[in-house]
Amino acid sequence: MSVLIELREVGKTFANGTQALAGMSLAVAEGEFVSLLGPSGCGKSTVLRMIAGLAAPSSGEIVGAGAGKGARDLGFVFQEPTLMPWATVRDNVLLPLRLQGVAPAGAGPRVKQALALVGLEKFGRSYPRELSGGMKMRVSIARALVTRPKLLLMDEPFAALDEMTRMKLNDDLLRLWREHGLTVVFVTHSVYESVYLSSRVVVMAARPGRVVAEETIDPTTGAPYLRDAEFRLLPEYAAACRRVSRALQGDAAEART
Ligand SMILES: Nc1ncnc2c1ncn2[C@@H]1O[C@H](COP(=O)(O)OP(=O)(O)O)[C@@H](O)[C@H]1O
Ligand SMILES: [Mg+2]
Repeated sequence: MSVLIELREVGKTFANGTQALAGMSLAVAEGEFVSLLGPSGCGKSTVLRMIAGLAAPSSGEIVGAGAGKGARDLGFVFQEPTLMPWATVRDNVLLPLRLQGVAPAGAGPRVKQALALVGLEKFGRSYPRELSGGMKMRVSIARALVTRPKLLLMDEPFAALDEMTRMKLNDDLLRLWREHGLTVVFVTHSVYESVYLSSRVVVMAARPGRVVAEETIDPTTGAPYLRDAEFRLLPEYAAACRRVSRALQGDAAEART
């Protein structure tokens, strides 16, 4: 598998002197589903923003990132759906295509298709205020996918949703990932969510933000587990959650000393 993005010894210090990241290295191969897991303030959002080309590293380098022409080839989903309240669902999803200068004749069918991907084909004329939290997040995902990016960056997209909605969207996301050959970098602070979704969990620690552990979730031999309700009941799932929790706690223990 070819490497899609690579952070090499990346550091980020903000203008106010906050050192958000130091010596952060991470390579993401095409087709991977990688979760960045870590406590609040460990620099997860900063990593995503830099991959997207929305912020520049203070030191080190990012290869194959969203800067320049690559920017068109990624979708970004934020924790808040950040929809335009005055525009219909269809117009919200249309926005990235308009920004790219895609003609309306071509854009219409693509918006329809993106809404179908997230099961909202019947809601194109609705306004965001008429939708539930989970539906708004679906619109946000449709908007990120409408340009057909290779890389999807998601920053705690489901954190504000109730458990049932979150599980449903987890499954929908996995289906999109599998069916569309996406590469996903997913930020979460939920151990269970990261293990359920990912092919690899990257555990980060704070002050300064860096990688402290990595766990590959699927076994190195045999077929990957099917990620469904059954998967949550497997001993392998519980074991992976324990390993990831320990890696997180190792960081917390270290911080206390
Ligand atoms: N624009 C900014 N200016 C100054 N400090 C910032 C800025 N953005 C983030 N930080 C700080 O950098 C650190 C990492 O932030 P962030 O990447 O948002 O962490 P996370 O997403 O893991 O919670 C935090 O200490 C945060 O307060
Ligand atoms: Mg964050």
